[in-house]
Parts: sequence; C-alpha cells; structure tokens
Amino acid sequence: MSDQVELLLQVNGAARRVEAWPLERLLDVLRHGLGLKGTKEGCGEGECGSCVVIMDGKLVVSCLVPALEADGSSITTIEGLGGEAGLDSMQQAFVDEGAAQCGFCTPGMIMAANALCQGGRTMDHASIREGLAGNLCRCTGYMKILAAVRKAGGARP
Ligand code: FES
Ligand code: FES
Repeated sequence: MSDQVELLLQVNGAARRVEAWPLERLLDVLRHGLGLKGTKEGCGEGECGSCVVIMDGKLVVSCLVPALEADGSSITTIEGLGGEAGLDSMQQAFVDEGAAQCGFCTPGMIMAANALCQGGRTMDHASIREGLAGNLCRCTGYMKILAAVRKAGGARP
C-alpha cells in the first residue's frame, strides 16, 4: 500500500492530480511528479532563487514549500509563460539581450522579474537590482539580465 498522498493542483492553467510523499517539496512534485523540469534546484535551501514559481499569485521558493501545503493551489511555472503566439515579453527580452549563458538561473530569474514588473509597474535600475537580489547567477551575467528586465519592464533609465 502506498503512503503517498494525492494532491490536486492547478498548474499552468490545467488541473493536475499528482501523488506525492508527505515530506516532499513542491519543487520535487513539479520536476519529478509532473515533469516540469524548467524549475531548477540550485541550493535547495531558499537562497538562490533558481526554483521560484508563482503560487496563488505570490512568488515562492518551491524548495521550501511542502507539497502538502500546495494542495489546492494554483501554480505557474516557466512552462506556463508565453503561449501559441510565442515567448512572453520577459522571455523574449532575455533572448534579445543575450541574458542567458548556461541558462540554469534563467527560469527563476524570469519568474522573479515578471513578478517584479507585475501590473506594468515601471522600475528603475536600483529597484530591479534590489528586487532580483535573491536570484543568483553563477555565470555572473547580471548586466545583461538587468538590461533584459529593464527592456521588458519598460523601466525608467
Ligand atoms: S533551490 Fe530553491 S532557492 Fe535555491
Ligand atoms: S546563466 Fe548560468 S547561472 Fe545564470
């Protein structure tokens, strides 16, 4: 008999049922249970931002969210951005500005940057830097990342 529990989530606009172990993390459910490998595991301790997703409208570090806590919630991952028309504006700006090197931090950066610029809020350079301070890029491509976020967010100079 399995000791797994069944979770019902709304993921990227679709209802998903998934089995999870009681102590599993949302990150594991997304990557292994649902095959959404765009969400990355870096530190596993809430320090690097590579695993961030939107849960019920808020940015969360999925490595620190117990799977059981996510039951019934609505999740958006990097796979949920854009659509048939193509990439969303932040993804496109990262492409245009060459803001991804190895790409490991990129999904988390884009999720965090979109949350930062939510509602068309215009951000200045310092605000973007501060807003993305929890997202680490091991390739240290910060200048291009900031340029992409400024471009997509319509930031003030
Ligand atoms: S893997 Fe979650 S914050 Fe680093
Ligand atoms: S592009 Fe490699 S970690 Fe950021």
